[in-house]
Amino acid sequence: MIFFRLLLLVLTVSPYIIFAQSSELDKRVDSVLRLMTLEEKVGQLHQLSSDFVATGPITKDGDKQDRVRQGKVGSYLNVTGAARTRSLQEIAMQSRLRIPLLFAQDVIHGYRTIFPIPLAEAASWDIAAMEQTARVAAIEAAASGIHWTFAPMVDIARDPRWGRVMEGAGEDSYLGSRIAAARVKGFQGKGIGSIDAVMACAKHFAAYGAAEGGRDYNTVDMSLRKLYEVYLPPFKAAKEAGVSSFMNSFNDLNGVPATGSSFLQRKLLKGDWTFKGIVVSDWGSIGEMVNHGYATDLKDAALIAMRAGSDIDMESRAYSAHLSQLIKEKKVDTALINDAVKRVLYKKFELGLFDDPYRFSDEKREQAVWNNTTHLQVAREMARKSIVLLKNEVVPAVNKPLLPLNKGDNKKIALVGPLVKAIGDNNGFWSYSWPDDSSRVVSLWQGVTNKLAGATSLTYAKGCDISGADTTGFASARQTATAADLIIVSVGESATMSGEAKSRSQLQLPGVQEQLVKEMVATGKPVVVLISAGRPLVFNWIADNVPAIVYTWWLGTQAGNAIADVLFGDYNPSGKLPITFPRNEGQIPIYYNYLSTGRPFKSDTDNTYVTAYTDLPNSPRYVFGYGLSYTSFQYGAVQLNTNTLSKDQKLQAKITVTNTGKYAGEEVVQLYMQDVVASIVRPVRELKAFEKVLLKPGESREITFTLDARDLSFYNDNLELVAEPGTFHLYIGGNSQATQKASFTLL
Ligand code: NOJ
Repeated sequence: MIFFRLLLLVLTVSPYIIFAQSSELDKRVDSVLRLMTLEEKVGQLHQLSSDFVATGPITKDGDKQDRVRQGKVGSYLNVTGAARTRSLQEIAMQSRLRIPLLFAQDVIHGYRTIFPIPLAEAASWDIAAMEQTARVAAIEAAASGIHWTFAPMVDIARDPRWGRVMEGAGEDSYLGSRIAAARVKGFQGKGIGSIDAVMACAKHFAAYGAAEGGRDYNTVDMSLRKLYEVYLPPFKAAKEAGVSSFMNSFNDLNGVPATGSSFLQRKLLKGDWTFKGIVVSDWGSIGEMVNHGYATDLKDAALIAMRAGSDIDMESRAYSAHLSQLIKEKKVDTALINDAVKRVLYKKFELGLFDDPYRFSDEKREQAVWNNTTHLQVAREMARKSIVLLKNEVVPAVNKPLLPLNKGDNKKIALVGPLVKAIGDNNGFWSYSWPDDSSRVVSLWQGVTNKLAGATSLTYAKGCDISGADTTGFASARQTATAADLIIVSVGESATMSGEAKSRSQLQLPGVQEQLVKEMVATGKPVVVLISAGRPLVFNWIADNVPAIVYTWWLGTQAGNAIADVLFGDYNPSGKLPITFPRNEGQIPIYYNYLSTGRPFKSDTDNTYVTAYTDLPNSPRYVFGYGLSYTSFQYGAVQLNTNTLSKDQKLQAKITVTNTGKYAGEEVVQLYMQDVVASIVRPVRELKAFEKVLLKPGESREITFTLDARDLSFYNDNLELVAEPGTFHLYIGGNSQATQKASFTLL
């Protein structure tokens, strides 16, 4: 009896369950495809945004729910929460074939629990930790009915004017690839179909991060060699980690909009890389090919995008309006539509939605997951690891570095600045899912208060706003500061200053914040400056005049606690910059692995007839891989297992690292390589390996890096991946200026 009831239930939920015994997903997918009308197929390729949240220019049109009921929508973005996803899915279940909807969302750095922005997390160089935050984000999102996150963004970014540097892993392809793979694994967990996993999406394919002038959505012109060598590796790594989808990009690449690029999508991704998942357009990017002057109208854009391999149309309404007609006119081959639809159906089957369309929309589970406080611990741990200590000078008064501060000192601390009591600004861009959930965010003020538990007197003055020219708050800030023994100034960007469509031509601290810092320094008290931002900012006066500088990015829900942990020495900072910090905007693009020139730069004081500026040193303000600790590390000599390497041999490079200071601490040991002479001009050095180690005071550890021919190879002029015989230099150390050196010859 129970069995029959169950069977009845199962048959009412889904007409496809009868295929459940089939071992072949292909058969199940084909069985659905065969039942579909052309309109229903086109529906699967049509993605709409909800009206709850907009992450792009919204189009108001018609009755969306009715379209779902007619089977004319395949997926949604921006529908949040178990209740909402469930109620829309119920409408989809009224459609003729009851094909479930996919719910997508930009879960970029957390869903309910907000983690540091991706660029900040990249500063941890802690691959396992980044996998874990993606895991937790997936657990929270999946419990809210979300099936698909539009993350990770794996665009390499060498231009901090571009607002979206905050969303990626920085400037380096090797670090970016390691992080891309980790994030995909974190989001997809044990595999899509697990109840706590979401599909990941590698975006934006491709070269979106190279927008000319750092201006979002702008054009990209680059050699294919550079594309293959610098911009594609993180995408390849995501593919190899099993990413479920790719998103194409707004930019044109060498004159062809990425959304309409057969080269990128059909040849490279679906061809050479044999990618079997979904390719989704970016928001409206199919229609925008008309603005690019690449398509005559929306119909032409639909034709170009479908031929080029864009499977799903997000928010252009080009496919929904024109694909059926294009098929009828025989301009688009049915096989192309079938292929795109199958890619979508596959994922719906893999997610288990044909068996139970509501399996992710369970309010009880959602509630239980939301109340999981271990997620906050993960957030605090990640936030601590993301912080970068930029400067920590010895202060004459105490004859030791200013940081860490001593909790036991019964001193008066003044917390000054517009970000001291900030809530939303700690979360940063792309944390819009829960705008009202501010009760969970720990401000700097709260974090320091928690840490000191009344033992030290804390005072506060805002001083000024983040932007604007108003200095009327300076007087009271001065007063507060003068009465204190130590000043902590918290300055930076607001959450909407870096992110999509947030390019800036000037990177100085906004408003009068630098002036506020000057006022604080003028009091003669010791000053610690905390900079909270989504990108590298320019702050030369502070860098030259303030004894202690901590770069805190946007750290998310646990920002205040994490910063207090670092300030008071409960966590020894270990972050290293994943992106170069310029001295000013004129140095941009600036990155550590630039190509050797014919007139190499010599020194910041000798710039005659060499590649240099006459009005500015060549060196950046802070180099890639840089970051201080409360302890110090010493590197021994590099030892190689051989000085001549054959192509099938492995090279081992050993080095001993010693903690020579007083605190236990973590060091990111980085290995850089230079191919000295090659058939193509090579970078002055490239990151090839790294390891993060924890050492007690006085402890030494021997680290062994193993490289093979693949690590020595590059794309030659014919775009072949080759390792060419000759001399290579290795450098190992704590940043990209590492000086411990060894050389070998590849035979
Ligand atoms: C546009 C952004 O470029 C993309 O990254 C995002 O996923 C979509 N909007 C959807 O919000």
